[in-house]
Amino acid sequence: MALIKKLSFPVRGDHRGLLVPIEANQILPFQIRRVYYLFKTSKGVRRGLHAHHKLHQAAVCIQGSCKFLLDDGSEQEIVQLDNPGEALLIEPMVWHEMFDFSDDAVLLVLADDHYDESDYIRARAEFDRLVGLKFSRF
Ligand code: TYD
Repeated sequence: MALIKKLSFPVRGDHRGLLVPIEANQILPFQIRRVYYLFKTSKGVRRGLHAHHKLHQAAVCIQGSCKFLLDDGSEQEIVQLDNPGEALLIEPMVWHEMFDFSDDAVLLVLADDHYDESDYIRARAEFDRLVGLKFSRF
């Protein structure tokens, strides 16, 4: 479970419905510089398949469900997101893949920096090389 770090957001509700506030640098452990969301994901698609050098992200499935595979090079965990009051932290140097999206899934991602292709590690062999180097120092 060490790879799966979740945040629970306060779900405010009354007879009108529900509302979830997400405050940067408070419940979310970083500032927000970017927000993006995935929706209308085609059946059977696997997305992500990369890691980041520095980026911190939090993913919330605000509607429907999807699964995440997280892999730090030494262990792998799979977790289902299906709760709009809960976020999964995606930390730097964690290979992640998203799959099994429900037809109605809307996956919201909060990121602490702007889009920067040079921060991506898209080749699995390169990721393995980098985490191998990291672990070999100890
Ligand atoms: P991509 O990185 O392929 O998505 P994923 O790895 O999550 O499956 O992104 C799809 C396209 O969107 C690609 O052309 C890059 C672009 N993009 C942005 O312009 N800004 C962003 O913040 C993100 C995440 C992607």
